[in-house]
Amino acid sequence: MKGRESGMPEEAYWNRFFDVEAALDVLLGPPGVSGHALEFGCGYGTFTLPAARRISGSLRALDIEPALVAEVKRKAGAEGINNVHAELRDFVADGSGVKSASLAHAMIYNLLHLDHPVALLREAHRVLSPGATLSVIHWRSDIPTPRGPSLAIRPTPEQCREWMAAAGLQAIESVDLQMCCPFHFGLLARR
Ligand SMILES: C[S@@+](CC[C@H](N)C(=O)[O-])C[C@H]1O[C@@H](n2cnc3c(N)ncnc32)[C@H](O)[C@@H]1O
Repeated sequence: MKGRESGMPEEAYWNRFFDVEAALDVLLGPPGVSGHALEFGCGYGTFTLPAARRISGSLRALDIEPALVAEVKRKAGAEGINNVHAELRDFVADGSGVKSASLAHAMIYNLLHLDHPVALLREAHRVLSPGATLSVIHWRSDIPTPRGPSLAIRPTPEQCREWMAAAGLQAIESVDLQMCCPFHFGLLARR
């Protein structure tokens, strides 16, 4: 089931909201990721392709929209990025299909307003190796933003922290995205 209010605006408009490389410096850390990774809801691949360059293993990128999956595959091919595996999959209905405790990193960006966020976070927890990291970003609700889901369903950082803890994630910390994504907050957590 597609997450509520998870459709994408026109790509150029979406891209305006993120300094992706600077955000990934914070979210993946300056050394990048040693091992395999997973992105839930990759959209246009805004973060997928830049992240893949920082990941030593493969990056599995899931989305429910065939056109978006095809676009991520096309871009990866065009840019010669061989470690992106974009896959058409409904992770709400079918899970991620990833082996338990197999990943070094998982990404959930602009998605935690879906109906059952703890279930998604539990799936992220399941696939991460012990000590591996989850990164989350979402639209802020404490300032006006030009885009983002309705405020009624837009989670605060505190709400996300509670959900992450309920899913079993640990060492939950806020990261500062003010300089690169001023309309977003970021969180990291470990399995
Ligand atoms: C708001 S977009 C964010 C895209 C990307 N994470 C980013 O920040 O640029 C959410 C994405 O999740 C996808 N999505 C929503 N529900 C899904 C589901 N149940 N399974 C797989 N993908 C889903 C949508 O198609 C959309 O591409």
